[in-house]
Amino acid sequence: MNQDLKNYLITCQSRVEIALKHRLPSDHILPLRLHNAMRYSVLNGGKRMRPMLTYATGQVLGIAPDSLDAIACAVECIHVYSLIHDDLPAMDDDDLRRGKPTCHVAFDEATAILAGDGLQALAFELLAHDATITASAEKRLQMITTLAKASGSQGMVGGQAIDLESVGTLLTLPELENMHIHKTGALIRSSVVLATLAGENVDPEAAKKLDNYAKCIGLSFQVKDDILDEESDTATLGKTQGKDKNHHKPTYPALLGLAGAKEKAEHLHEKALENLAHFGDEANLLRELSLYIIQRDH
Ligand code: IPE
Ligand code: IPE
Ligand code: MG
Ligand code: MG
Ligand code: MG
Repeated sequence: MNQDLKNYLITCQSRVEIALKHRLPSDHILPLRLHNAMRYSVLNGGKRMRPMLTYATGQVLGIAPDSLDAIACAVECIHVYSLIHDDLPAMDDDDLRRGKPTCHVAFDEATAILAGDGLQALAFELLAHDATITASAEKRLQMITTLAKASGSQGMVGGQAIDLESVGTLLTLPELENMHIHKTGALIRSSVVLATLAGENVDPEAAKKLDNYAKCIGLSFQVKDDILDEESDTATLGKTQGKDKNHHKPTYPALLGLAGAKEKAEHLHEKALENLAHFGDEANLLRELSLYIIQRDH
């Protein structure tokens, strides 16, 4: 990984860690078990890719990180809620996440469901109410709508529904792409779009290019997740390797083979870069993040 990106990732990770700690309900506030479960699942070392994309988009548009903290936290809260629910016995039935027992294993199933619900509500509360967001009330409403659509039944939740009903079936390539665009792509896309909404007088052409970039990396992110499930190992991933095959999940490697899936990820990275041709060096972090997404080892 490029040294600039490495430094940037470390800075962003500690920044969002502090911002999240500060915004999550304290574990001294009732109900203790629920708040413990929420903090356990959020503050446990994820890559924080979505917050990084929010901050890196801010860098392109000259938006100070201070006014992006709440947005970065909101997207990460939705992401973690999706992971908690994704790991439940009724869904992927996983017992390892980020190198630790999943929320329902560390606590219990009901608490895990509620922790996810609580994080989802917190995400929208942050967009509606967090004082560090300097955008107008109208812009806040646009942010709330964007995140709601990205996470709802025509976004992430819809993608998860398709994922579950597709187990054991053979999807066509367009069907598989549609599932991935929804279950993972939509939220990643929103982490970029929300940052563009936080800016003042953002050129609509620049916003469009950033959105198109985000669509490409949103899909390449899940293609790479599928590849890693096939060829990485549990210790590196921090989640159980090989689950997709065992659970007969439709994935890119299952449909195209590993080489075909890698080619697809490479192609999406190139398309992402094409959309950034509009920008100068200020978009270098976004360029590096796209490469990191398809080259990462976990
Ligand atoms: C995993 O997401 C689930 C998908 C949407 C593919 P990440 O790979 O971003 O997980 P963390 O946040 O780093 O644990
Ligand atoms: C998860 O996809 C997508 C969401 C959580 C919305 P996966 O089921 O492939 O994610 P992992 O591999 O368990 O992290
Ligand atoms: Mg899943
Ligand atoms: Mg899963
Ligand atoms: Mg996966």
